[in-house]
Amino acid sequence: MANIIDGKAVSARVKEEIAKETAAVKAKYGISIGLAVVIVGDDPASRIYVNNKKKACETVGFTSYEYALGADTTQEELLQLIDKLNKDDNVNGILVQLPLPKHLDEKAVINSISPEKDVDAFHPVNVGKIMIGEYSFLPCTPAGIMELIASTGVEIKGKECVVVGRSNIVGKPMSMLLLHQSGTVTICHSKTNDLAEHCRKADILVVAVGVPKLVTGDMIKDGAVVIDVGMNRLENGKLCGDVDFDSAKEKASFITPVPGGVGPMTIAMLMKNTLTAAKIKHGIE
Ligand code: GUN
Repeated sequence: MANIIDGKAVSARVKEEIAKETAAVKAKYGISIGLAVVIVGDDPASRIYVNNKKKACETVGFTSYEYALGADTTQEELLQLIDKLNKDDNVNGILVQLPLPKHLDEKAVINSISPEKDVDAFHPVNVGKIMIGEYSFLPCTPAGIMELIASTGVEIKGKECVVVGRSNIVGKPMSMLLLHQSGTVTICHSKTNDLAEHCRKADILVVAVGVPKLVTGDMIKDGAVVIDVGMNRLENGKLCGDVDFDSAKEKASFITPVPGGVGPMTIAMLMKNTLTAAKIKHGIE
């Protein structure tokens, strides 16, 4: 029976550390730290995420600036706002909540954010820096997962790490981070032959594909660390992950629940990136 990794507790600890450091930096250097959150349209899930991000800013002592734009906002208007935020000294981080309405060009919007303020780490400059291991920011979900793995005390070095999913936001950067920690990394995806065979080799298994209960207990090695990034809404309204928790927990040594595992970590890491951006701007070690 696995230990359950408590994402809420780890997230609270990370936010507490950030709050302490923020207070110290503010006191010593007399600066404030600001995060601009841009939301376009009225997607209800995005609204909840944005509210949670603003709440987290309050918790750690940042100023949040919300820009809620109408669903009919043009590409030009959005780019003009980002240009203004890029130049605004009070803004250390810029987060444009995705997905954007269909008429907007998401890639062009991400590319317009100054890499120094790109606290999502989605800009190609930051993506490239991750590849060569010289990054300032890590994308929030993989960074949060690294914290969760660290919280188990299990070493990554030399271990078989299997990442299921190859998205730009999770799968690809996750694989790089595990590789930087000297894991032996396999990336699986929807076209992989015999997914179960690969998963069974994993000492550390990260699943981020958006398919409910794709990975079952019989696909998990005894004692593996299992990280479930999935957040799927079932027909009965319940949330479930990409891993079948009930069968997987019988095999794993540590496992994340859904909800309450990876989810709470992402906002904590967003706060961490914003603090990092402010420290770099002000030349603080
Ligand atoms: N929408 C869902 N997750 C994210 C995220 O991590 N960053 C942004 N900007 N939008 C999102």
